[in-house]
Amino acid sequence: MATVTAAFDRGLQATRVALQEFGAANCVRGSFRRACVLKLAADLPADPMKDFRQMKQRGEKITALTAYDYPTARLLDESGIDIILVGDSLGMVVLGYQDTTGVTLEQMLHHTRAVARGVKQALLVADLPIHTYDTPEQAVETARKFVDVGAQAVKLEGGVSHVAQIQAITKAGIPFMAHIGMLPQSVREEGGYRIKGRTQSEAEALLADAHAVEAAGAFSVVLEIVLADIARQITGAIGIPAIGIGSGKHCDGQILVTHDLIGLFPWFTPKFVSPEARVADEIRRAARAFIERTRAGG
Ligand code: KIV
Repeated sequence: MATVTAAFDRGLQATRVALQEFGAANCVRGSFRRACVLKLAADLPADPMKDFRQMKQRGEKITALTAYDYPTARLLDESGIDIILVGDSLGMVVLGYQDTTGVTLEQMLHHTRAVARGVKQALLVADLPIHTYDTPEQAVETARKFVDVGAQAVKLEGGVSHVAQIQAITKAGIPFMAHIGMLPQSVREEGGYRIKGRTQSEAEALLADAHAVEAAGAFSVVLEIVLADIARQITGAIGIPAIGIGSGKHCDGQILVTHDLIGLFPWFTPKFVSPEARVADEIRRAARAFIERTRAGG
């Protein structure tokens, strides 16, 4: 046992150094790495989960963006973003699916691995894809797979309905980000992406979801397309940060799909997004310039 502990501590020390120098993704592999990362999450004075609560208390806004590949992850990380999410929006903005319901575990793990190689500073969160957390046991098993490929926290969709899964994940020592409001994995049952919290009963259910995920151990909660006033009330009612997407400006932070922010998916931009760039136009311009130059014999 002493040998195991010593090996663990040596591994922890090596991991600590490697984390500082190269980022979590590049140091050690597999379940040993997971054990080191989880112990680190509990050990290091700069516990990012605690930092997020403190940021909320100080009124400092939390910033989060999605990434699905190494260069984007590295660019976002170097820009100083607080959280990078490997969202299952991967299905729509990268893989060309209609919605997120076709995204597989293998696809998410593959992209999380790539993102992890580019992240040094930000907290790396990964989405559990649909039907990979139908039971608490399955949720923990899936969450561990994400930690093994470099995620530092996981997210799944659901509030009161998924308390058992959330408790199981947090009890396993894996930091957890909740996601309530509009749930894209349920878009087919819901018949579209509709704003949540318009009725009294919907607003009450959202508040109950927010309290439930906090009590189950989530370190933060994403509020997706929630009526701004209800999002404000939820934000004020819970101790963990509420990170909004299309839910108004009163949340503790904001998250966006990077492709929407930078104009890389020009065929559809959600109403609540104000793009900061037009990357699709730049790609078209560069491609046309190359085509012309090549055809001209240059
Ligand atoms: O999949 C995703 O990108 C998300 C959002 C909250 C941005 O879950």
